[in-house]
Amino acid sequence: MIKVNRNYLKLKSSYLFSEISKRVASFEAASPGTPIIKLGIGDVTLPLPRACIDALHRAVGELAEKETFKGYGPEQGYEFLREAIAAEDFRSRGARVSADEIFVSDGAKCDTANFQELFSNDIRVAIPDPVYPVYLDTNVMAGRTGQAINGRYEGIAYLECTRENGFVPGLPEEPVDLVYLCFPNNPTGATITREALAAWVRYARENRALILFDAAYEVFIRDPGLPRSIFEIDGAREVAVEFRSFSKTAGFTGTRCAYTVVPRDCFAFDDSGEKHSLHALWNRRQTTKFNGVSYPVQRAAQAALSGEGKAEVASLVDYYLNNARHVRERMAALGFACTGGENSPYIWVNAGMGSWEFFDLLLEKAGVVCTPGAGFGKCGEGYVRISAFNDFDRVQEAMERIGRALAV
Ligand code: MLT
Repeated sequence: MIKVNRNYLKLKSSYLFSEISKRVASFEAASPGTPIIKLGIGDVTLPLPRACIDALHRAVGELAEKETFKGYGPEQGYEFLREAIAAEDFRSRGARVSADEIFVSDGAKCDTANFQELFSNDIRVAIPDPVYPVYLDTNVMAGRTGQAINGRYEGIAYLECTRENGFVPGLPEEPVDLVYLCFPNNPTGATITREALAAWVRYARENRALILFDAAYEVFIRDPGLPRSIFEIDGAREVAVEFRSFSKTAGFTGTRCAYTVVPRDCFAFDDSGEKHSLHALWNRRQTTKFNGVSYPVQRAAQAALSGEGKAEVASLVDYYLNNARHVRERMAALGFACTGGENSPYIWVNAGMGSWEFFDLLLEKAGVVCTPGAGFGKCGEGYVRISAFNDFDRVQEAMERIGRALAV
């Protein structure tokens, strides 16, 4: 008899965004002809930068010729891309990261999901609430939690992010070993100051903990005082791993390219206190389970880091930030308290009622899809997340429809 992994039975039956898609599909089936505007999942709508498209075409051309054809690439990513990332995303900002500490992958979702495999099951894991569900669900799948009771898994140290703390979690009261942080935050759009991030790095150093820092939205930071990478903080190289993505920067959600920085100074410990390099362990994991990102996609990612590519990425990001400003202003004018949307593509709206109730209201009365905050955790109840990833005219129309729906 084939036996199931019982940890999977502890999970909610479906992943948040799959649940939303199901509800939207059933609404569409019941109300055919109602045009829906999707401001739910953070999926980009603008095409890839010209520099990336040109690089893709050139790379495909290389694959068509015997002399330039490529089979398997290095599991860690091609040198040309790792070098470009180290120079453009880190050294240019004074962060000490070398090309061989960068592992190119097909998504920050997979990397943030998979990284926990390197750790023992008896570690104490701290997870913000609300949170991008992947961090929590993958620890549940791995067996690091008990059952969910009242929306909280036993065994997890929840870091509550509320209006009172500006949606930036305070340090845990109990010792923890692994901490997930994401800034600019998904879902709240909150940012973290250099001082607050430095306090987390100090905590990790004092407790021999590790921070998994998800910086997938760093390109949206416009405030020059805010850190874009945890490696801008002194001492972080020994206690942090960082995840980045080309999805929300160059519009690669469908193209798939991301990377993880694993500093050579980072270690995990065995029962006798002996240290083991996380870089070596992640390399071991990736070489066993992953065969790299396709050559054309890595060339396109490299092009996103060229002078021309960076200018195009900046204008894509400006476009979505302008949408975010519009959403924030309109929702505020309707009387809703909002966070995010300034250095982030997400606006976290205090709905003044249950999250799913507000989700259903916007869907049924305005034909607008948002994401119910409760889907991100208990502290998300009473909020919804509105994504700025759509075309400006659609965002404008969505805000007009919401205004009309709430007026009646
Ligand atoms: C989101 O909407 O939270 C993101 O698009 C999900 C993701 O990046 O996987």
